[in-house]
Amino acid sequence: MPAFTASAPGKIILFGEHAVVYGRPAIAAPVSQVKAKANVTADPKGTPGNVRIHAPDIGLEASLGDLPADQPLAAAIQGVLTSLRVKRAPACSIKVSSTIPVAAGLGSGAAVSVAMIRAFSAFLGHPLPDETISAMAFEVEKLHHGTPSGIDNTVVTFTKPVYFVKGQPIETLRVSRPFTLVIGDTGIASPTKASVGDVRAAWQANKAQYEAYFDSIHGIVDSARSAIESGVIELLGPLMDANHGILKKIGVSCSELDTLTLAARKAGALGAKLCGGGRGGNMIALVSKDRAEAVAAALKKAGAVRGIITEIGK
Ligand code: PMV
Repeated sequence: MPAFTASAPGKIILFGEHAVVYGRPAIAAPVSQVKAKANVTADPKGTPGNVRIHAPDIGLEASLGDLPADQPLAAAIQGVLTSLRVKRAPACSIKVSSTIPVAAGLGSGAAVSVAMIRAFSAFLGHPLPDETISAMAFEVEKLHHGTPSGIDNTVVTFTKPVYFVKGQPIETLRVSRPFTLVIGDTGIASPTKASVGDVRAAWQANKAQYEAYFDSIHGIVDSARSAIESGVIELLGPLMDANHGILKKIGVSCSELDTLTLAARKAGALGAKLCGGGRGGNMIALVSKDRAEAVAAALKKAGAVRGIITEIGK
């Protein structure tokens, strides 16, 4: 039996994180420079039904049956078996690896789920369609995040920039003029579940104020959408700065993210903001192509552990 391999990219949220959990739109795009990969091989000598999972990046090596049902990798595989009504899979081994930093706002959990679901369903002879893969990865996202919006699994599955509203059919975004971003990593692991939970507590304590923040973000997202679709990329910089300012008020920035966004602007970025859950993880800066290397260098000097240059809409 041949090996079945699938991969899925990382993702960044360009605009609208956190507000998206409360029904507002967000814009996100895939980042192909980092990816998760899953490889499934048959184990002809193994006991039928025995599915081994190896994920050296997180030090995991176990049989599916020995993992708790809420372990995210096990849940992804179990989801495929349930959906395809497979009682006993052929003995096999699933190897998962990823270059996407974990708990960093780049969608690593969703990418791992999507790669595993895609490769394992193909191995079982029933490659699942993208809609189903995304829906299944969303179920796993709930284990990671608590109350996810679904944006990560959507972008990572369909690998296109999207204008996303929770619970609505996906709208892919037409990027009239590709644009360049530098992604700077604070190196601080920050589980999204914690920041999403804290925002929920703050929203519960002061609904009027938080709803107003989310409405402001909604306006920014819609302006950004027009700018992207009409190719007036210069408008995106100030919109990023404004979005970062509100995220700061919401309480999901941190001194390291503020330092990196400032350093990017000083080095010539047109705008910058944290991206994803916040409190660590990554930030993004909009740059002209010829300033990308200089901004990436400035971010490293200001403490970033990694700088990725990516082009959106290419
Ligand atoms: O940190 P990430 O990349 O998983 O992004 C989380 C985005 C949030 O809006 C904060 C949560 C969500 O589920 O959309």
